[in-house]
Amino acid sequence: MSGKKFYITTPIYYPSDKLHIGHTYCTVATDAMARYKRMQGCDVMFLTGTDEHGQKIQQKAEAAGVTPQQYVDNIVDGIKALWKLMNISNDRFIRTTDDYHVEAIKKIFRKLYDQGDIYKGTYKGKYCTPCESFWTESQLVDGKCPDCGREVIDAEEEAYFFRLSKYADRLVEYYEAHPDFLEPPSRLNEMVNNFIKPGLEDLCVSRTTFDWGVQVDFDPKHVVYVWIDALSNYITALGYGNDKYHDFEKYWPADVHFVGKEIVRFHSIIWPAMLMALDLPLPGKVYGHGWLKFGGDKMSKSKGNVVDPVVLVGRYGVDALRYFLLREFPFGSDGNFTNEALISRINADLANDLGNLLSRTVAMVGKYFGGTLPAERAADPVDDELLTMAKELRGKYEEQMEKYAFQNALIEVFKVISRANKYIDETAPWVLAKDEANKPRLATVLYNLLECLRISTSLLMPFMPDTAEKARVQIGASAEDFTWEKAGQFGILPAEVSVQKGEALFPRIDMEKELAELAQAQAAPKKEEGKPEQKEEPTAAPITIDEFAKVEMTVCKILACENVPKSEKLLKFQLDDGSGEIRQILSGIAKYYKPEELVGKTVVACTNLPPRKMMGQMSNGMLLSAEKDGQLNLVMLDDKVPAGAKLC
Ligand code: MSP
Repeated sequence: MSGKKFYITTPIYYPSDKLHIGHTYCTVATDAMARYKRMQGCDVMFLTGTDEHGQKIQQKAEAAGVTPQQYVDNIVDGIKALWKLMNISNDRFIRTTDDYHVEAIKKIFRKLYDQGDIYKGTYKGKYCTPCESFWTESQLVDGKCPDCGREVIDAEEEAYFFRLSKYADRLVEYYEAHPDFLEPPSRLNEMVNNFIKPGLEDLCVSRTTFDWGVQVDFDPKHVVYVWIDALSNYITALGYGNDKYHDFEKYWPADVHFVGKEIVRFHSIIWPAMLMALDLPLPGKVYGHGWLKFGGDKMSKSKGNVVDPVVLVGRYGVDALRYFLLREFPFGSDGNFTNEALISRINADLANDLGNLLSRTVAMVGKYFGGTLPAERAADPVDDELLTMAKELRGKYEEQMEKYAFQNALIEVFKVISRANKYIDETAPWVLAKDEANKPRLATVLYNLLECLRISTSLLMPFMPDTAEKARVQIGASAEDFTWEKAGQFGILPAEVSVQKGEALFPRIDMEKELAELAQAQAAPKKEEGKPEQKEEPTAAPITIDEFAKVEMTVCKILACENVPKSEKLLKFQLDDGSGEIRQILSGIAKYYKPEELVGKTVVACTNLPPRKMMGQMSNGMLLSAEKDGQLNLVMLDDKVPAGAKLC
């Protein structure tokens, strides 16, 4: 296994100032798979990025009064910050506006044109402007766009076409020879029955109605239409058609592309056909995962039913959210997000099962042995079932992970955790502790529990890296005890292991109180009568250096920023202050900045002011601004300064 390459990708995301947990879902799944493969010793390339061209971006930039490049630059920083917050371990990040990608797209387009796979014609069809998609009559649903359900218009334009029809037979042959190419299997049937059997039409691959895209260099009034530009990212990011990278031979073909189900068509028909035309090998697999829904509908910004990952991470921590996303829903199916499900999952699995097992075990080693187990042991047949389960866990987990069945892999881990909790009740260590003669038996019970914790939490590393690390330290394991190899063995911890008591991993959440707070946070906040919104009283009186030193000023990265409803003055910021927790600050600067301009910027906050409520929302600190003659500027630092740095 060691050293084997593994190339995995997410789709490249459209720059949106508000990525929701639906987007986060795919990236977290990809991250868990990448971490799992790294743990196995594979040479992993994990690629993600942004899909920045197209008419929609051009229109949004115009509306915001900025150039498309400025528009995407602002948003992409925020997307990168979100991935940092979610602890995403991507090896590379591609932007379709990167020079090397643009250069490669021009070459790919020309090559396909020169060899006759792209030709010039006239496109007549039904066009969905928001989705930037042309559809055939037969693909429309009730005469409307099958993706977003909106009206389509009749459109006609001179365009270049890719000879997709030419590849239909080869595609079907390929699917037959590689039945695992597209998963879950239902998606393959859908592609063959809905798209290939009715007859593949050639694909329109250029536009003349807007210019925010890669220009066709031999016919400059055309820009390359989004799918050739977007799909090719998977190879240009390795250096295909450019000199920026040199890993194409090493990593291509991709082992798996993770994609949402609505873009399976592009990845399982157009992309393989393009690769065939370029005479390149096809990816090992396309996995089309389901959608996260909210209130029964696909989460999407236009429907206004999005759930913000930054808020959830702020309340529950990144690992709880990562765990929930991959444990709650089978990866291939749709799932409905609810706050209740999230809180129940955290309480039941993380606070109760895992958290209790860890805290009880570590506490007992402390209480009965002063934190270090003695070496003497006394086994008992009652241990057998638990030990067998722990020894078999890695194999069962691997079987599920290899099928991308994250939910089942986690269920296997938690079976061992639950069994270990039951084992505590069966063996009743508090009874054993009453008799000195039972000490070897007591030490054996506790050692078995520590070993179960070691195996199970090391296998949780791909899902909850920070939690696994905290557990590792508490049970007295070294980093070498937390490897893939050791996860398959029982009895790795030293006989005289020393534990280290730590904080509870996941404090139990009071469901009722939490739901009420969430509801309040979601409701439009009311202005509190008579209370000043924000009191800023600059003082010019001299102060001592000691007084000055009391002010804690911390460098923060802006992860998200939005207007506070019903307030003309306030902007609400979610900040990375380097502590690992999200800090929320409200600042009265809405008059001077648009929220999207600020995402990704490096700013300074006073972080030891008491929390205060403004317009019903909590603010934990104050952002530093500079004011002169009524003009206010947020103090911004060079992006190289890390979050958490203190001003001194
Ligand atoms: N830019 C294209 C992908 C090009 S890949 C060559 C795109 N971008 S997107 O930002 O709209 O979506 C990115 C991914 O997020 C897609 O896989 C999409 O399915 C996924 N999701 C968006 N909303 C989602 C949910 N509500 N639930 C799960 N995944 C969702 O498509």
